[in-house]
Amino acid sequence: MSYEQKLYEGKAKILYATEDLNVLLTFFKDDATAFNAQKRGTIVGKGEINCKMSSHLFQMLEAQGVPTHFVDCPSANEMRVRAVKIVPIEVVVRNLAAGSLCKQTGLAQGTELNPPLVEFYYKNDDLGDPLLTEDRLRVMQLATPDQVAELRSLALRINEVLSAFFQNCGITLVDFKLEFGVDGSDRLILADEISPDTCRLWNQEESDPDKRVMDKDRFRRDLGDVEAAYQRVLDRVLAQPI
Ligand code: TMP
Ligand code: ASP
Repeated sequence: MSYEQKLYEGKAKILYATEDLNVLLTFFKDDATAFNAQKRGTIVGKGEINCKMSSHLFQMLEAQGVPTHFVDCPSANEMRVRAVKIVPIEVVVRNLAAGSLCKQTGLAQGTELNPPLVEFYYKNDDLGDPLLTEDRLRVMQLATPDQVAELRSLALRINEVLSAFFQNCGITLVDFKLEFGVDGSDRLILADEISPDTCRLWNQEESDPDKRVMDKDRFRRDLGDVEAAYQRVLDRVLAQPI
């Protein structure tokens, strides 16, 4: 693939222009970061795994009526996507308490959250991606109240579809982060990626709290076998039909 102009390089992906103004090319890197890039490393094969897994899940979500930016995959670690304006809000959905929620609230890891918790974070590395309230969202004008309501309902719908999908993989979808973009018709569509980098995934065949971890927490917490865990998730995801 010959690359056009590089538009943006993030921590895990690079975005290029293509000859089609409405389409961008995403290159998925093996680079891994955690704790706002204070921890850095490489997860060999991660780019391909995250690209393949995201492609499969985006197509599955499209089939369930969720609009996504997915176009196609010209190679194993490249995805063509529709050009959208990214909304600078990270939408996190939580089914079980884990990670920063436990750290900030004292809730025990694994506490069931029913209905699921939807949280909004400001996508801004310089500020450390702070948690937003509805009032902060309004004051910062990051999205209109209608858009915020739609982000919430889209995130909950995506959670229903993804939770059922992962259940069929023998995996519990603990929590995950989504990003959305606005297209030329002001429509919100799912963007970014859905991968072990952006989800907490627990293997239902394991009860040990460390052994069951199949996601980036293996890297964040130095649990080892990161590549093997990512590959196992991908194998189970690809085994499920779209
Ligand atoms: P948290 O518990 O650290 O807030 O993470 C919640 C979910 O969001 C978890 O599935 C990991 C994902 N996530 C990202 O995708 N990017 C990030 O920068 C962070 C902090 C979390
Ligand atoms: N990707 C994030 C970072 O490096 C953090 C994380 O996923 O834990 O900033």
